Order: sequence, then structure tokens, then C-alpha cells
Amino acid sequence: TKRAFSAFKPTGHLTLGNYLGAILPAVRLQDEADCVYAVADLHALTIRHDPAELRARTREAATLLLACGLDRSGVYVQSRVPAHTELAYLMECTAHDGEMRRMIQFKEKSAAQEEVRLSLLTYPALMAADILLHRAELVPVGEDQRQHLELTRDLALRFNHRYGETFTVPQAVHPRLAARVMDLSDPTSKMGKSEGSTAGTVYLLDEPAAVKRKIMRAVTDSGTEVRHDPERKPGVSNLLTMLAACTGRPVESLSYPSYGALKKDAAEAVAETLAPVQRRFAELSADPAELDRILSAHAAQAAERGAEVVDAARRAIGLA
Ligand code: TYM
Repeated sequence: TKRAFSAFKPTGHLTLGNYLGAILPAVRLQDEADCVYAVADLHALTIRHDPAELRARTREAATLLLACGLDRSGVYVQSRVPAHTELAYLMECTAHDGEMRRMIQFKEKSAAQEEVRLSLLTYPALMAADILLHRAELVPVGEDQRQHLELTRDLALRFNHRYGETFTVPQAVHPRLAARVMDLSDPTSKMGKSEGSTAGTVYLLDEPAAVKRKIMRAVTDSGTEVRHDPERKPGVSNLLTMLAACTGRPVESLSYPSYGALKKDAAEAVAETLAPVQRRFAELSADPAELDRILSAHAAQAAERGAEVVDAARRAIGLA
């Protein structure tokens, strides 16, 4: 069986974008692959953060991943497995300065800040290490991670070429439909944990009333015709995408007489999708010791697997 890995940065509350773009595809991969998923708390340190907030969001994200149905996967917290940072250094010694600076996410995020943490630049080396550490072949991610995945492949190939076959070269898995869920109040920008607007972002833990309000107030496009056309009708297409992804109905089969009718159904479908996740989140939160036990057991498994790969990489690159 193939191995799958992906991770989620606890820089804020997880969103519907995270869910449709990566979590749901990750849940589905459990049927065909050996799956490991992490909360990337080390990646959350690449921008300004609050320690107590980070700890809380890390735990919340881990609980949410399990609540979303990743309970057949090895869910753990990245920083609990030191092999990630050990391998990340070897990746920094494989990557070039220029290819890090070329990353769209680095350019966007660094432009928006006065002081840029050095780790924001080296971020893709750590991400490559995450993936290579698990010998993952499949990496379920949204569209915004495409470039990071390509760099990971380049680094794996370069290392293998220079030092001998060491790493498995991974492949990104993007959902057909919801690879880029857009902000409800600005459908030309991505729905995001930290970058988007609160009014335009559906969080997985939003109350049903808040979910419905946000979707009913979504910015739509000029005209009245409901059709899936992300270029000319970004707002309507975003709602159609959410509805289709939440119900499993093909987007072509959705036909609506008005924007209002579409919003009503989309709001309903999203709220219904989140209800069981929130129920399960409450159950899991009621037993913190059990959550600790699950995360520790999976971290130990990840450490064991990771040690073997780090060892191979150390030997290949010439460390004693
Ligand atoms: P992060 O935490 O920003 O997002 C987690 C996952 O959610 C996807 N995603 C979206 N998909 C569709 N529409 C959206 N609006 C949307 N917003 C987010 C992301 O593409 C991602 O798949 N660098 C990664 C975390 C990471 C990682 C890894 C991923 C660290 N190590 C190893 C894969 C493998 C990140 O910042 O994702």
C-alpha cells in the first residue's frame, strides 16, 4: 500500500478551505493508503505568534483532524518528533537560496511584514523534510501548496542523484473541485486561517447560525444567472463548489433559479457537513487524557519511521 502524509499549520482556527481542500481528501485516502497527518506547529513559528495561543490552536487542530474522520490515521504533533528538524537541516543543505526566495508564499508573506523570520524563508525545507521523513508517495493538499510540493520533489531528486537513492519522490493530490476555496466576502482571494476576513471565512467550529449568516451574506457577482464559471462568476462558483463538495453532487448537476436559492442550499449543506464534526470534537475534548494517549502513540510511531529515514540520509550525505 502507498503511504500518504500531509500537515496543517495551527496559525489560527481551521477553516472550510482546509477541510474541503485537504482534510476531506485525506479522509478519503484512508481507504487506499497508509496515512499519517501532522499538526505543523513548527511551521506556525515562522510568523509572529503567541505561545499560549499556539499551544491552544495546536491541540484544537489535532482534535479537529480526528473529529473530521482522520481517526484511522497516525495523527500527531510535528514538534514532538525531532527528526523533522534534523532532516530539515539536511534539506537546507540540499536547497538553494534562490529557489527558496522564488516561493510565492514567501514573497506574499514576507511582503506583508516588517520583520521576516529567517524560518519563513527556509519553511519549504522543513516541509520537504516532513514529507520525505515518512516516505510519503501521496500528499493531499490544496492548490496553494503546489509550488512547495514541486520543490520537495526537486530536492528529493537532487539528493538522490548526488548521494544515492535515499528518498521516495512524493506526488501532490489535489481535489478535483475544491482545491482553492475562496473568501466569501472577497471571492478573488483565498479563504485562509490568518490572511482572510472573519466575515468571509467559515471556521470548522463556527456555530450553525454563524455559518449560515456568513454564507447568506457572501458577495456574489453581477448578473443573475447561476453557473459554474470561476473566471467570470467567482462568487457564485465558490458557493457552487462548496455545495457540490459538501454534498458529493457533481457541480454540473446543480441548477438554481436565483442566487438566494443557491445560498440557502449552500448554507444548509455546509452547516450539515460541520454538525457531525463539531459533535465529535466535543466528545474528544471531553477526554483530554485519551487525546494525549493517541497523539503520543502516533508520535512514537512517526519517530521510529523517521529515525530510519534520517539515518539513511545522514549516511548518504557523509555524516559520521
Ligand atoms: P495550511 O495550514 O495553510 O493549510 C492546510 C491545508 O489546507 C489547504 N488549504 C486550502 N485548500 C483549499 N482552499 C483553501 N482556501 C485552502 N486553505 C488552505 C492547504 O493547501 C493545505 O493542504 N505548508 C502547509 C502545512 C504543511 C504541510 C507539510 C503540508 C507543513 N508540512 C507537509 C503538506 C505536507 C500549510 O501551510 O498548510
